Amino acid sequence: MDETKAFQEFDRYAFSARDFEFIRKLLLAKTGINLSDSKPQMVYSRLSRRLQALHLKTFQEYIQWLQQHPEEHEEFVNALTTNLTAFFREAHHFNILADHALTVFNKRKTLRCWCAAASTGEEPYSIAMTLAETAKKCNASVEIIASDIDSRVLTQAQTGVYDLSRTKNIPEDYLKKYFLKGRGAQTGKVRVSDSLKSMVDFQQINLLDSRWSIKPPFDVIFCRNVMIYFDKKTQLDILQKMVSLLAPDGLYIAGHSESFLHASHLVTLAGKSIYRPVSRSALRE
Ligand SMILES: C[S@@+](CC[C@H](N)C(=O)[O-])C[C@H]1O[C@@H](n2cnc3c(N)ncnc32)[C@H](O)[C@@H]1O
Repeated sequence: MDETKAFQEFDRYAFSARDFEFIRKLLLAKTGINLSDSKPQMVYSRLSRRLQALHLKTFQEYIQWLQQHPEEHEEFVNALTTNLTAFFREAHHFNILADHALTVFNKRKTLRCWCAAASTGEEPYSIAMTLAETAKKCNASVEIIASDIDSRVLTQAQTGVYDLSRTKNIPEDYLKKYFLKGRGAQTGKVRVSDSLKSMVDFQQINLLDSRWSIKPPFDVIFCRNVMIYFDKKTQLDILQKMVSLLAPDGLYIAGHSESFLHASHLVTLAGKSIYRPVSRSALRE
């Protein structure tokens, strides 16, 4: 294919195959996200908002802008991440989490959980609601770290305001207990209660970084629906680092379409898309 050829269907801002290739490589280097050849349309629609905001006329101009303005890289990453999420998504994981918390609280009175691709907050708040209930019964405490690479979704998560329509998977009693209903200008919205918010510490962490600013051990790591964007080697590198942060009896919770059966030197299957670390002594053998 002629790399300078403009894609036919993108008529507002000139966008060539060479521009797409540059953007694809930059995104891969910054985030590990490996875009397929079929994604020019997605890149065009997500980045054209940036071109509009910056009053640029072509993708070539935007690429030059990226090269001259390192501060644009954060907006670039924010625009290209896929942040789809929901409260109590893949619901059976939360039943397993509650059972696991009971087991942990029989041994120790604190549980630590890392939610490693937290997006707009629905996932860490679902974890927090589940653990708050179990911790109360056991007179125990919980620490939750929720992270994402995307600064825009982290701000949304910390604000904790959601459209009422997004709350349909939240059990009625949790909705009453942990959310405040908006009035006036906020009608149709809910806000997470301060008590639930205080259970979650939001941080910006790039899973691709060689060091993460968090202290182990964790009893549970939720890393759902993000590994699918990485190539196999990146997935294994991240999994290995995460497993090293897990307590020996800890759980790694993956998304339903993510399988680590090929990583049997690191983890063993413990349920539907749930893994346990291979014992440390076995790792040394
Ligand atoms: C599809 S969402 C999944 C959200 C949630 N875990 C769930 O399953 O509902 C993927 C999230 O991964 C984040 N992400 C992508 N690349 C990342 C990276 N290198 N480091 C940290 N987070 C990343 C995106 O910003 C996005 O919010």
